[in-house]
Amino acid sequence: MAFDRGFLDELTARCDILDVVSRYVQLKKSGANYFGLCPFHNEKSASFSVAPDKQIYHCFGCGAGGGVINFIMRAEGLEFPDAVRFLANQAGMQVPEDRADPRAAHRRERVLCLCRDAARFFYDELWAPEHVRVQQYFARRGLTRKTMNRFGLGFAPDSFSALLDAMQAKGYTKDELLDAGLASKSEKGHVYDRFRNRVMFPIIDTRGQVIAFGGRVMDDSKPKYLNSPETMVFHKSRNLFALNIAKKTKAEYFILAEGYMDVIALHQAGFDSAVASLGTSLTEEQARLIARHTKEIVISYDADGAGQAAAQRAIDILKKADLSVKVLRIPGAKDPDEFIKDKGPDAYRRLIEQSENHIAYRLDSIAAKYDLDEDEQRVGFLQDAARELARIDGAVEREVYTGRAAQMARISMEAMQVEVRRALAIRRKKQKTAERREIRAPVAAVQPKDRTLQYTDVKSARAEEGVLRLVFESPETMDYLWERLPPGHFSAPVLEKIYGYARELHGKGILITVPACEGWLEQSEMDLLSGILATPVAVGKREKALDDYINIIETQRALRQADGALDGEDPLLAMSRKQREKKSYGGNRV
Ligand code: UTP
Ligand code: MN
Repeated sequence: MAFDRGFLDELTARCDILDVVSRYVQLKKSGANYFGLCPFHNEKSASFSVAPDKQIYHCFGCGAGGGVINFIMRAEGLEFPDAVRFLANQAGMQVPEDRADPRAAHRRERVLCLCRDAARFFYDELWAPEHVRVQQYFARRGLTRKTMNRFGLGFAPDSFSALLDAMQAKGYTKDELLDAGLASKSEKGHVYDRFRNRVMFPIIDTRGQVIAFGGRVMDDSKPKYLNSPETMVFHKSRNLFALNIAKKTKAEYFILAEGYMDVIALHQAGFDSAVASLGTSLTEEQARLIARHTKEIVISYDADGAGQAAAQRAIDILKKADLSVKVLRIPGAKDPDEFIKDKGPDAYRRLIEQSENHIAYRLDSIAAKYDLDEDEQRVGFLQDAARELARIDGAVEREVYTGRAAQMARISMEAMQVEVRRALAIRRKKQKTAERREIRAPVAAVQPKDRTLQYTDVKSARAEEGVLRLVFESPETMDYLWERLPPGHFSAPVLEKIYGYARELHGKGILITVPACEGWLEQSEMDLLSGILATPVAVGKREKALDDYINIIETQRALRQADGALDGEDPLLAMSRKQREKKSYGGNRV
């Protein structure tokens, strides 16, 4: 996906990296730069930096870095084109896709239209007189006609070509049906309807566009649900079922359920903030998506073991997105849908009110593993619980739950506190070691973190890094280097790639900046570049420094060549050639 250079320049100019990053990270100014806790790895001391003058971010702990688009790719888990769209949207800019790649934009548009028309087709089929049994299926499951319409439920007839025929009659091609994930292709190349004899749940994004479907059988056959595959408009890990409705809720909290049917039953019962993931376990992107709409979430998963295990995993993911998490337990029923059908909305509302804070929930789950009437088992509980309690950051909260755990095991508060303190000490020690390792890492790392980018000639590579630092700091440097240092004289393929690209930009009169390299360097290459640039340039005689660098690069090059001539085949050169083949220049975005 190629975007127009001018558009990208304007976008990165309008989206100041400091503003954008500030929405995710609390930053404090220190000198010319800003520092905060890295959003991409766990840390207690601020090693994440933003340099507004260079428009880059870099974490001295984990090594992540890049420009503003790269930041959004990481923070929102988006591919380059989607990160560009995301930022453009926030900046109120029109993405000129039609100019840059009119065919891709057109295909996307067609797929969206097709999904909408398919949803209409499934809806009409559901209400066709010959499909009364399908209407009865939903009625038996307690859904009203109003609810069915609100969710746009439908039915895919028992046929290999019903949808294909109907959509082709409307002018869509087989390829478009394949693009939309509505048709499949056999080995012999025969195209047929993907969804057959299934009740259909459209998946609608927050803009109100139908982007995919889930289809359920009406009996016990397998698979129970069939979902659309990933398509150019549908990414399961980045959408949630019913978020289009839930985002308008007045409720203070969201409810996270497991299934489509749970969500629909909850909405019908008046809980209009229920959402579910789409046939996979909850992802970090989904958690962040939720966090954009609410601060509090109640997990309401199935009562069975699988549901409870999934809830445990979801807690961690949701906490990471800074949500306040509660967990609801369903007594005597399989899932929220069944409970509400049995006991009614009021009873479910009481469950929400009683839902436990995630720590209490964890303690209860731990207690369930032990028989607390047996001494030996109580010791086991104590240790397990202490480890859990040591994970609580707030002292008051930790005290409260320590008391609760003591009560559960019927031991004194003091004894429990001793155990928690011990667990806390172990945890702190581990953290310290990890941090120390982190802080030492950037100094110790004379090699790029990504092993595939490793330098074969470290001495030359250091000088090459120095050259890049000066080039990005003041692009006119390139004029000086133009004749003096050709890219081919670099030892490290990755640095040569960056240098070569910078030359190209300069040759075309484009300012050499990190944002100008976005979308063209791989993530790991971007990390490396931001690390190089985050190291301050020593002020002094620029040309003298450049001459020194060139000197080292040329001397090292001569040495390598002499070695190669002696040994016939230089293993270093052979290796770097191999790397070069692997990391070839790729598409040119200029
Ligand atoms: P459930 O089996 O709990 O489904 O799976 P449900 O929504 O409660 O449906 P009913 O009540 O049996 O009709 C939970 C979710 O897991 C995904 C679906 O998203 C489903 O809603 N799933 C389940 C699949 O993707 N494929 C399957 O075969 C089963
Ligand atoms: Mn169910």
